[in-house]
Amino acid sequence: MLKGFILFIFISLTVSCNEKTKKETQDENALSINEDEKYRPNFHFTPKEHWMNDPNGMFYYNGYYHLFFQYYPDGNVWGPMHWGHAISTDMVEWRELPIALYPDELGYIFSGSAVVDHNNTTGFGDGTTPPIVAIYTYHDPKGEKEGRDDYQTQGIAYSLDEGATWTKYENNPVINNPGIKDFRDPKVVWDEIHQQWLMVLAADDKALFYGSKNLKDWEKLSEFGQNIGAHGGVWECPDIFPMQVEGTDEVKWVLIQSLNPGGYNSGSGTQYFVGDFDGKEFTLDPDFKNDLEQEHTYWIDFGKDNYAGVTWSNIPDTDGRKLFLGWMSNWEYAQEVPTETWRSAMTIARELTLKKDGGSYRLFSVPAKELYNYRAKSFKVDSLSIQKNTKIVGTEQIDLSSTELSFNISDLKEDIYTFYLHNPKGDTISFGLDNKKNEFFIDRSKSGLIDFSEKFSQKPSVAPRVTESDKLTVQIILDETSIEIFYDKGASVMTEIFFPHAPFETFSVSTEDPNAVIKNLTIDQLKFN
Ligand code: FRU
Repeated sequence: MLKGFILFIFISLTVSCNEKTKKETQDENALSINEDEKYRPNFHFTPKEHWMNDPNGMFYYNGYYHLFFQYYPDGNVWGPMHWGHAISTDMVEWRELPIALYPDELGYIFSGSAVVDHNNTTGFGDGTTPPIVAIYTYHDPKGEKEGRDDYQTQGIAYSLDEGATWTKYENNPVINNPGIKDFRDPKVVWDEIHQQWLMVLAADDKALFYGSKNLKDWEKLSEFGQNIGAHGGVWECPDIFPMQVEGTDEVKWVLIQSLNPGGYNSGSGTQYFVGDFDGKEFTLDPDFKNDLEQEHTYWIDFGKDNYAGVTWSNIPDTDGRKLFLGWMSNWEYAQEVPTETWRSAMTIARELTLKKDGGSYRLFSVPAKELYNYRAKSFKVDSLSIQKNTKIVGTEQIDLSSTELSFNISDLKEDIYTFYLHNPKGDTISFGLDNKKNEFFIDRSKSGLIDFSEKFSQKPSVAPRVTESDKLTVQIILDETSIEIFYDKGASVMTEIFFPHAPFETFSVSTEDPNAVIKNLTIDQLKFN
């Protein structure tokens, strides 16, 4: 009897102990999720949970922008890759959908692209709706483990319901590996000029071009890039497209080429090249080549946090924009950033334009205009004289955690113009123009949590100023944990993330130039549903 009683007490204690442990764990989880949520951006895409890297398969169809992404649904660091999926009507507010592509016996699903096969060149169509075709890299982990060189191949899958569900092609892979370890990230475009599907693929230190009539049979056309441009690391995630040079009838081809490491400020970065494509070979424009050889200043973004970005396919001709978006992180620390529930965000969508201004061609990027539909409350100042540490705006006027700020400064002197974001916890991020060095900078070494990686804020990031104008224009897009700065109308762009102890509340400026004046200052609060 006593034995039975003791057993009863033991069992109930064990049960209540277990229950307590479970509840405690739940509380802890709830706590860490809430703690985490303070770093969740207000308007940049993040997956609800788990690890994300590169944007993939971006296409527009029937009113929706589709964004797929490298996704590991079982953890918050990189793992076996899937394609996650989100859609948006304006590239600002995203709805996450079920996972689109799962790994299979050929391997993990690495980065790639998607096109709308309007003419059913693949024969995948059912006669009612054009097939959407995804072209991606298979990464076979078994081959990698065995130490082989041929474990990355290219495969395709198609969707007959606007990207919701996918069928893998039965004869995958469509491109076998020729014995190159890093052989990945196919970006396919319909090359209207030469009436072919054109693929650009990253292969170690080169971009390879392939052509096809049906997206299934591919012929190698040419190679580009060995010893050209930056080569501090492996080339990844290319993109290629023709662009009209603004204000002219001239058409040039732009090749976007990410690499890791070896970015402008170390780690991951994305450079670009401007030239011509004759249906087989990409060749650099001679002026561009000349400038590139003298000084390589051709980067889509000079900040540390814009990687693997590519453009949307199937944007209607009536729109005609080149719309771009990148992964807002850097392989130097992406897996250590202080969020647990999810890891990484995307940049805002941007519009790319190609301009020729005196020297050679240059790619400009500015926010895609859809973001402006979210302007809610404006604060404008025509002109503001800057003395040392002039406060421009604080929480009395506007909540800085979802904001667009723009202004200009004319008559620049050989001086340093520094802007600061502050919070009451003493965190600061500073950035601006060092007009002695003709260089922009951003310093996040005091921006809050930084010690999760020594690479995060080892030294300030810099960017060359590429115009000679004595008028500086600045446009800043601020979210809870990121800043995207578009200088000189998008000629030099810097994107960086940060993790402050509390939201930034004031924006101020400082310079030694006694006559400096900020003009046309507009601060727009952005409001999201
Ligand atoms: C770039 C990258 C790609 C690859 C993918 C794997 O960030 O390394 O080259 O396809 O990530 O997740």
